[in-house]
Amino acid sequence: MSQYDVIIIGAGPGGYVSAVRCAQLGLKTAIVEGRETLGGTCLNVGCIPSKALLHATHMLHEAEHNFAGMGLKAKAPTVDWAQMKSYKDDVVSQNTGGVEFLMKKNKIDWLKGWATIPAAGKVTVGDTTYDTKNIVIASGSVPSTLPGVEVDNDKGVVVDSTGALVLGKVPKKMVVIGAGVIGLELGSVYQRLGAEVTVVEYMDAVCPGMDKDVQRTFKRILEKQGLKFIMGAAVQGVDATKTKAKVKYQPKKGGDEEVLDADVVLVATGRKPYAEGLGLDALGVKMTERGQIAVDGHWATSVKGIYAIGDVIEGPMLAHKAEDEGMAVADVLAGNHGHVNYGVIPGVVYTTPEVATVGQTEDALKAAGHKIKVGKFSFMGNARAKAIGQADGFVKIIADKETDRVLGAAIIGPAAGDMIHEICVAMEFGASAQDIALTCHAHPTYSEAVREAALACGDGPIHA
Ligand code: NAI
Repeated sequence: MSQYDVIIIGAGPGGYVSAVRCAQLGLKTAIVEGRETLGGTCLNVGCIPSKALLHATHMLHEAEHNFAGMGLKAKAPTVDWAQMKSYKDDVVSQNTGGVEFLMKKNKIDWLKGWATIPAAGKVTVGDTTYDTKNIVIASGSVPSTLPGVEVDNDKGVVVDSTGALVLGKVPKKMVVIGAGVIGLELGSVYQRLGAEVTVVEYMDAVCPGMDKDVQRTFKRILEKQGLKFIMGAAVQGVDATKTKAKVKYQPKKGGDEEVLDADVVLVATGRKPYAEGLGLDALGVKMTERGQIAVDGHWATSVKGIYAIGDVIEGPMLAHKAEDEGMAVADVLAGNHGHVNYGVIPGVVYTTPEVATVGQTEDALKAAGHKIKVGKFSFMGNARAKAIGQADGFVKIIADKETDRVLGAAIIGPAAGDMIHEICVAMEFGASAQDIALTCHAHPTYSEAVREAALACGDGPIHA
């Protein structure tokens, strides 16, 4: 008899959420994690610590730039970087401790160490091999770098997102390679801490793939905050000494190679799936061309009894996408119908202002020949956003021209990352823009801007 119904490999948001749901559904569950703490990249070195730093530095920005105007007269605070990092570490340990509590509460065994899979139905951790009916691989992803760029987080000169959370001091000059989510979030943190931050991006717009309107507004706002951008530039390599670096880039439009000096270079050019050491080759687990574990519609790999979820399979590398897959695969293993609606997965950038998107973009729909209408509402018409000095931004809702069904949305503005869920729920229910427009929204809230954008899909917004 198997010791476990399921062993989950990796305790990030995909893995630990899956473990909890498996246990709730009555499966005897274990989770393997080699880190000292649970929670994976997200809790330990990703989403959570970066949000702590974003919060602390946003407070600093408010004190430096907006307190006096609100009648709060005081000297601008000085930054105790060591204390800020310890605050961040405390936030992390509260959360990783919370996951450990959840494992105990749900009677999930934590098998400490790095797993290998010697055969289907078997997982080895250290010297022990466990029998299990099913295996769920949730081993996540790691930062990917560029040819000619060697990341060394210990030296702290050329770092990835993990190294950027523990820099010895705030650099004077930082170069960020890549204007994606990580580059802009962590670039904002260091810009607010006083670094001169230059972001070098290969494409002509920030956050490739995002709504074009949002890309333009987002870049303009970040520039106003002090971030510098060099767009259309391909980084060719970085030469680093113990304390400094030179970033070489080639403008796409042609011309000579250019060089930027930096005290710290943050490489934020994407992440790649991580499944090393599991022994998948020997097992014959099929991979995609992009190095992800190939799965079917039920997250089953090509080897019976082995499943995979999260960053290690295809799709956006987002904690909440992994969580949804984790719950759904648990349902599959328990004999239920597991389902993830990949058309309604929000994406959020936690800068100030926040940026949030869901569904399809205006450009993609137009390119596909879909007849649409676009309702847009500026936060300039939203009293609450004005009250906190964050009226720069807008809500945009895209609906089918004939049926009025909501197909997508983009928000740039205060609390965008929370407000987007109203639209997610509407989309899950197949709602029309009018359904949102006819729903009473409390005044004064930022959410009124969502209603106004929905009204803009019909007879028009009130406050514009
Ligand atoms: P990304 O894929 O979002 O952005 C990477 C950027 O680097 C792209 O804009 C790309 O054009 C640029 N780039 C690539 N090669 C370049 C070169 N040689 N020179 C100049 N620019 C170059 O990747 P990022 O920001 O590293 O994030 C990794 C993953 O983590 C993403 O999938 C992201 O969704 C996820 N993540 C999500 C967060 C969130 O939801 N808030 C926060 C942090 C990460």
